[in-house]
Amino acid sequence: MKPETESSVDGNKSSKNWAKPDFFPNAENIPEKFRLEGGVSINQTLIAGELREWHGPFAEVRSPVCLRAAKGAEPEPVLIGKTPLMDGDTALQALDAAVAAYGQGSGAWPSFSVAQRIEHVEQFLTEMRSHREAVVELLMWEIGKTRKDASKEFDRTADYISDTIHELKVLDRRSSRFETVGGVVAQTRRLPVGVALCMGPYNYPLNETFTTLIPALIMGNTVVFKPAKYGVLLIGPLLKAFQTSFPPGVINVIFGRGRDTIGPLMKSGDVDMFAFIGTHKGASALKQMHPKPHRLKAVLGLDANNPAIVLPDADLDLAVSECVAGALSFNGQRCTALKLLLVHESLAEEFVSRVSTAVNDLVAGMPWETDVSLTPLPEPGKVTYLRSLVDNAEANGATIANEGGGQVNGTYFHPAVLYPITTEMRVYREEQFGPLIPVVAFRDEAEVIRHVRDSEFGQQLSIFGTDPEAMGGLIDVLANQVGRINLNGQCQRGPDTLPFNGRKDSAEGTLSVSDALRVFSIRTTVATKSSERNRDLVTSIVRGRHSRTLTTDYLF
Ligand code: G3H
Repeated sequence: MKPETESSVDGNKSSKNWAKPDFFPNAENIPEKFRLEGGVSINQTLIAGELREWHGPFAEVRSPVCLRAAKGAEPEPVLIGKTPLMDGDTALQALDAAVAAYGQGSGAWPSFSVAQRIEHVEQFLTEMRSHREAVVELLMWEIGKTRKDASKEFDRTADYISDTIHELKVLDRRSSRFETVGGVVAQTRRLPVGVALCMGPYNYPLNETFTTLIPALIMGNTVVFKPAKYGVLLIGPLLKAFQTSFPPGVINVIFGRGRDTIGPLMKSGDVDMFAFIGTHKGASALKQMHPKPHRLKAVLGLDANNPAIVLPDADLDLAVSECVAGALSFNGQRCTALKLLLVHESLAEEFVSRVSTAVNDLVAGMPWETDVSLTPLPEPGKVTYLRSLVDNAEANGATIANEGGGQVNGTYFHPAVLYPITTEMRVYREEQFGPLIPVVAFRDEAEVIRHVRDSEFGQQLSIFGTDPEAMGGLIDVLANQVGRINLNGQCQRGPDTLPFNGRKDSAEGTLSVSDALRVFSIRTTVATKSSERNRDLVTSIVRGRHSRTLTTDYLF
C-alpha cells in the first residue's frame, strides 16, 4: 500500500493489486490526513430541540476497509465508531416531539411564512457546509465511497438544498395569484402534510436522505429522521447544525434498528408522510402497520433492475464505456445502476471482450486513494451473496470473462463480467446491487421487449444504437414500462431537476427539486362565490394582512 501521492502515478496499480496480501493497509500506511484517529461515535440524539445523551446499548460501526490488528494478522473490518441502538419508546418520544411541534398545523413551524422557513434552511446549509471535510471522510470510511464520489455527494446535496430554496420562491410566486373560474374566486397554496418520517439508503446516506428531508422541512412539515443502516456516523457532525438551525421538535433524529424503532412509529398512526428508500417488501410491510394506511402519504424509492439494450448498430466504444460506468460506479451500489446488459448476438462477444478489458483497467484500492474506482463493500455477507450469484451462473453455463472476476479479498469483491446469461440464472432476475456485469445475448428485439415487460421493476433503462427508426420504435414500445429511457448513456438520477420515479415495484411518487416540494405538501384552496360582498371581504383580509394563508405576499 503506497501513500496517496504515489498511487496516482503508478500506472500498474490496477494489475491485480486487489489480490495482493497488502491490498488492505496497515494503520501506519494510511495518509495522515485520512486517518480516523480513535474513531467517531455518536452518543446523543436530537429530540424536541435537545441533544440528549444516550445511555442504552450501542451498535458497533465497522468500516469496509480492513486493517491488521498486529503484524502478520489477517486484515479485519476496522471498528470506526458506535451509534445508539434506540428502542421503540425513545423513537416514540421523537415522534411525540414532532407531533407537538406540528401542533395540528398550528405549531410555529407550519405557521411560519415561506421566507422564515427559508431563513432556517439557509442557516442549516451554511452550517452543513462547514462540516464538508468531516462528512466526506466519514462517507469514505463507513461505506467505502471514493473520496471523489463522496465529495460529489456532498456538493450535489448542498446544490440540491439551494436549488430547493430557489424553486420554493418560484412556487410561492405562482401561488400568490387569485383565479376566477365558474363564478368562484379562489387562491390555492401548497401547505404541509403533517409529520413526516424520512429514511434514507446506505449508498447515498447524505444525498438521497436529504432529497426528502429538506423538502419536507421547508414545506412546513415536522420530521422524524432515521439514518440508513450504514452511513450513520456522518450525521454526528450535523446533529448540532440541526439543533441550532431549526426550532425545537421540527427535526428529531433516531438511531437504531428499523425493526425496533420504525414499527412503533407506524403503529401509532401519527405519521402522516412516509419517505423511504429501500426494498419494496420493506416499504409494504411498514405501510401496512399504519392503522389508517389511506391517510399515509408515501414517497418511495424502491428496487430496480435497470437493463441496457445494445442494438446491432450501436457505437461499441460508447456503449462499453457507458455500460461499465453504469454498472460499476460505486461498485454497482446505485439503485440506478445498470444491472443486466442485453446485447445483440452479432456483437455480444466483442462487447464482452471490450467490457472485460475496460474492467481490467479500473483501479481498485482504498477510498482515499487517487484514481481509485473499485473499493471494498460495506454490507456484511455481501461478498458471499455475490459469489453465490456467480456460482449459480457458472453452474448454469455462464463463464467469467474477465481476469480475476468474482475473486474475493476480505470485503473486496472483484467485478465479474458474466456471459452468456440466460433466464434461469438468479442474476437474470435478482438485483445484485454490487459489482457483477451479467451479459445476455439476444437475437430478436422481441426478447428484449418481453424481458422489460415481464420485469417486476420499472425504474429506468438505456438503449444504445444509431438507427433513428429502430430507436424511435423501441422508445415507443418501452416508454410505458419505465420512468426514464436513456439514449446512448447510462441510467442515472441526475440532473436533479429531472423527474426521478419508477413504475411497478420500483417507486411510488416522483422526486425532483420541484416535484419534491409538491410531494411534501397539499394544495389547499380558499374559495368564495364571486359576489361584490365576497370580493370586498377577500380584499379586506388581504389588505389588512389578517391571514398568513390568504395573502398576496411573495418572495423574489
Ligand atoms: O441509488 C440511487 C441514486 O439516487 C442514484 O443517483 O444515478 O445520480 O447516481 P445517481
